[in-house]
Amino acid sequence: MRLEKYQNVQDGRLKHAGHDYLELAETYGTPLYIFDEASFRERVKGYQQAMETPYFETEVLYASKALLTKAIARLISELGIGQDVVSAGEIFTGIHNGVNPEKMYFHGNNKLNQEIRYAIENNVGTIVIDNRMEVERVNQIAGEVGKKQRVLLRLNPGVEAHTHEYIMTANLDSKFGESVFDEAIDTVIQRLATAENLNFAGFHSHIGSQIFEEASFYKAATELLTFSAAVQNKLGIKIEEINFGGGFGVYYTETDQPFNVVDFLPNFIEHVHAEAVKLEINLKKVTIEPGRSLVNASGSTLYEIGDLKHTAGGKDYAFIDGSMNDNIRPALYQAKYEAMVVNKAEFPAEKTYTIAGKACESGDKIIENIELPELTTGDLLLVNGTGAYNYSMASNYNRIPRPAMIHVIEDKHYLTVKRESFEEMMMREI
Ligand code: LLP
Repeated sequence: MRLEKYQNVQDGRLKHAGHDYLELAETYGTPLYIFDEASFRERVKGYQQAMETPYFETEVLYASKALLTKAIARLISELGIGQDVVSAGEIFTGIHNGVNPEKMYFHGNNKLNQEIRYAIENNVGTIVIDNRMEVERVNQIAGEVGKKQRVLLRLNPGVEAHTHEYIMTANLDSKFGESVFDEAIDTVIQRLATAENLNFAGFHSHIGSQIFEEASFYKAATELLTFSAAVQNKLGIKIEEINFGGGFGVYYTETDQPFNVVDFLPNFIEHVHAEAVKLEINLKKVTIEPGRSLVNASGSTLYEIGDLKHTAGGKDYAFIDGSMNDNIRPALYQAKYEAMVVNKAEFPAEKTYTIAGKACESGDKIIENIELPELTTGDLLLVNGTGAYNYSMASNYNRIPRPAMIHVIEDKHYLTVKRESFEEMMMREI
């Protein structure tokens, strides 16, 4: 397993910023989500600095669907980063934990009327309109609330990025956004710009997630700016802001080769500026909204090994006390992960295991064919790179309670999510 900066091997054991994983397991139990706060803060600041430019205002928004808890919301607020939200639930969590709603961008196809109303009444800064029917709904509700609502339009620029089909969002048949190739697109934009209760500021696009080619982002930017210029020239509508979405790929295993986002961003901003100047677009603001690349590497999950099984077919299973309930990604996207036995950090890898969860589902395997030291019941297995889309996609399948989460910051660690109880699982049931 590739170690993160905050991890190192001491006295034959893997440690997290000097904390022994065995002690963390004793204190909080397993399975346990562990979040390294210092590395998250550092990454957020790095992105913010890398976006700084004299050309226009820039803002980094955090795509909170990747991981959102009260503690994460408080960090968003403290770091002054904007929040990309996709539901009233995410807005609620943000504003109840100090996030400035003016810095929120509200996304989603089929936002419900009550969600739109909730957002407008609570001063959510920007609503990213997803389709032409939503234009009318937001306009109407803004009128009822008595506000002029700032909006962007989500465009689908038709740029194909190579990623898993389920997380590819910008192909022609995508459920998200209005296609730049749609014959009615001009009418939609004209309506947006003239709707009495809307303040149309520009465009948004998000071409997909876990993308490794910088070229895809440059291409999408060029397409969007070219499209914006056509809108200005043809329709006389000014484009002030473009939000380029998220999607920067991260490392899970050796086959992933992500680019360095902090090195990429200044070049990307230069590219956007140069194209905007060439096309005579007076851009006032540029935003990005990464989720995974900001949180993933800060998160890991600690499991205890239970039974071991050698099958008649010759396969060696090691069962963990967690499951697809705490990490659905391998079952849903064939996602790959690396892991390490924290109490056998210096033992040679000598056996091939399939790490399977305890849920009643054959596909509940967290890692297939990983080389590890000979395992024994009670060993602790750490899976890295689980910060994004693990806790946020967790479920109670099989009535398995969701794990606890802790944050580690330098010499301290503290609980941010309590382990779910059986009573809590029944709480809303009558
Ligand atoms: N902006 C929009 C409009 C999005 O739809 C998404 C992700 C993001 C930003 C953040 O993308 P990121 O930087 O995290 O790649 N559950 C899947 C990923 C779904 C992504 C959905 N949209 C997974 O576990 O891989």
